[in-house]
Amino acid sequence: MGDERIRRIVVLGGGTAGWMAGSYLAKALGTAVDITVLEAPAIPRIGVGEATIPNLHKVFFDFLGIPEDEWMRECNASFKMGVRFINWRTPGTGEATARTLPDGRPDRFDHLFGILPDHENLPLSHYWTYRRLRGETDEPFDHACYAQPPVLDRKLAPRFRDGRRWASYAWHFDASLVADFLRRFATGKQGVTHVEDRFTHADLDHRGMITAIHTESGRRLEADLFVDCSGFRSLLINQVMREPFLDMSDHLLNDSAVATSIPHDDEKNGVEPYTSAIAMSSGWTWRIPMLGRFGTGYVYSSRFQDQDRATEEFCRMWGLDPGTQQLNQIRFRVGRNRRAWVRNCVGIGLSSCFLEPLESTGIYFIYASLYQLVKHFPDKRFEPVLLNRFNHEIEKMFDDTRDFIQAHFGFAPRDDTPFWRACKELELAPEFQEKVAMYKAGLGVELPITDESNYYGNFEAEFRNFWSNANYYCVFTGLDFLPDHPLPAMALRPETVDSSQAIFAEVKRRQAELVETLPSTYEYLRMLHHGG
Ligand code: FDA
Repeated sequence: MGDERIRRIVVLGGGTAGWMAGSYLAKALGTAVDITVLEAPAIPRIGVGEATIPNLHKVFFDFLGIPEDEWMRECNASFKMGVRFINWRTPGTGEATARTLPDGRPDRFDHLFGILPDHENLPLSHYWTYRRLRGETDEPFDHACYAQPPVLDRKLAPRFRDGRRWASYAWHFDASLVADFLRRFATGKQGVTHVEDRFTHADLDHRGMITAIHTESGRRLEADLFVDCSGFRSLLINQVMREPFLDMSDHLLNDSAVATSIPHDDEKNGVEPYTSAIAMSSGWTWRIPMLGRFGTGYVYSSRFQDQDRATEEFCRMWGLDPGTQQLNQIRFRVGRNRRAWVRNCVGIGLSSCFLEPLESTGIYFIYASLYQLVKHFPDKRFEPVLLNRFNHEIEKMFDDTRDFIQAHFGFAPRDDTPFWRACKELELAPEFQEKVAMYKAGLGVELPITDESNYYGNFEAEFRNFWSNANYYCVFTGLDFLPDHPLPAMALRPETVDSSQAIFAEVKRRQAELVETLPSTYEYLRMLHHGG
């Protein structure tokens, strides 16, 4: 039998996806495989993608052997303990600060990372629901069950001064610095070849396999496996392989964004350790704090607001002059390729799938896909079961997140504009409707199978259970979309509800202790980036 091993891989595209792919595959496959990244410097990267989720370090950078503080310094990174949703319940146009709810509280809630503690085999969410639905508490879910909200209010850090972390967190970073850092790492330390040239066309053999790709200056790059990281152009998987893109605008309406970067006085105003998601008249705006600036962009639906009106609403909110401010106008497609992997071509990044960035899953999809590619890595026979299993995993990953994000818009109580009303008319996928029915009946949804200390250590388990009970509770209760009743069996064990009070009291004690002891995010980041 001949040697069927894959020996050469060409990655087309040098954005975040291309360099993540180059470095991850080089680490996973070792020196027996030659990897080339082809990038056209004249074709710009998308230029956004600044917020992440917590498993980025464990699943990606830790795998590459790069310490957190090192890549944070290289990529100008700051901390993110969750997403703060602002004005998702009250009507109005874009306002960066929270409006007031009828009960006098601010219109905001936190979607926090981390898993809730259990009590008598039920997560804390269930005890909060029991008390809330019986009128025994009016404290919002996030404040009652998590230590983080007062820490976020005060812009404190997710680590103590001595570097110990006390909460799950992710990062904000400069996306172009990440791609450049990974390029230096991959070419300098892993032997990845970098070719700067423009793709023109591909050669296919009689089975429809790509044998080589050609460039503008006449190069011919041969390989056994081609990874398409060419962004929304999707040059190989859609254009050469002709794999159809499944449009999912019947689930999510947003298809455009206007983005910019705004200088920020960190010393005077502090650095927020969270992403903000501010509801607008026809979508929402992200605010992602970085060092000395914040990235921001209004994600909207062109069906309900044209570019000029969206730009005007966005600029008015931040006090910007649309005539002079440098603005990045972006159109995007929402959906995924029918198959992410076709014959010897795998799409990763925007060429494969894209969901609007409400829960910052774009970069996650990249390294989760790489993890799955390595798990299902083929030889030159490209055994169909490997492709099929990989495609199945990507499909589930994508569709599950699509449905969760759709529910954010669908369950938000506001219905003051045609956009918000239209979000409520979209149908949720049947599998997701079942999860909603479980939630409404007081059941846990996707209960995590481990506690917090193990959860982020086992990506296989996390991948399968990505949005778990705590995520559903943070978002749904934050939108005031509550279960119809507590879990019926709880009424038989009132003593467990009584004893759960000790856990709520412990949350309060922890909140008080943390706000007394933590450094500010600004102070911590200054120490990390500048040594003092
Ligand atoms: P990208 O477009 O960046 O790169 C494409 C590459 O292909 C470039 O290097 C280009 O030169 C190359 N190329 C194209 N044509 C070529 C040719 N003919 N020859 C050679 N090379 C060619 N994600 C996230 O995790 N958190 C977030 O907060 C956000 N926010 C966000 C907001 C908005 C509005 C959008 C649209 C997207 C996000 N994302 C995100 C997603 C994130 O930006 C995205 O997943 C990554 O940047 C990956 O992008 P790619 O590398 O796939 O494409």
